[in-house]
Amino acid sequence: MNPDKNPEAPKRKLLLGVSVVFVIVAVAGSIILYATRDWNAPAAARNLQNPVPPTDDSITAGMMSYSTHCQSCHGERGDGKGERAEKLSIAPSDFTDAHAMGQMTDGELFWKISHGRHPMPSFQNKLTEQERWELVDYIRTLSQKAASGAAPATNAPVPQTDAAPKRQ
Ligand code: HEC
Repeated sequence: MNPDKNPEAPKRKLLLGVSVVFVIVAVAGSIILYATRDWNAPAAARNLQNPVPPTDDSITAGMMSYSTHCQSCHGERGDGKGERAEKLSIAPSDFTDAHAMGQMTDGELFWKISHGRHPMPSFQNKLTEQERWELVDYIRTLSQKAASGAAPATNAPVPQTDAAPKRQ
């Protein structure tokens, strides 16, 4: 019924066409993603309620995980200046920036910690949900401390006194 001598030829052409389109979309997509660098959590994640309210216990637990898993990049005070920061292709976020932190919901922070984005690793399989919410509670305190200091919007060092409780 098909007069074509080689019925495979148009199939192969189509496959090639699809692959070319796929590669173009993938490359363009990565470039756009890289250029805009916007990192937005899905609406459902943003609206997620924090089931672990900030208490002394949850914040202390969050601080412990932070020093093990996050501090090397995000810095002891959360200012994004950890010892590995300079070697990364993207600068780690500054959790002392009260304005930027104020724009993110707990759910969004939780989602970002869970998923990561290169060079930040994903913590979904490394930390339990409870541990990730505790981290949200802890990193929130970092901008509160900065805001109560003199100039939260600058990179001026946060006063040492209460920047990192129970550190010594
Ligand atoms: C290898 C270094 C590295 C480690 C370890 C790391 N991060 Fe990150 N993190 C980054 C970088 C880099 C970004 C910015 C990513 C981007 O914008 O694409 C980031 C972004 C974030 C953001 C998003 C903030 C925003 O402004 O959107 C949150 C929240 C965060 N990290 C929390 C954590 C927590 C909590 C841990 C520990 C459990 C952690 N990170 C461990 C490097 C790291």
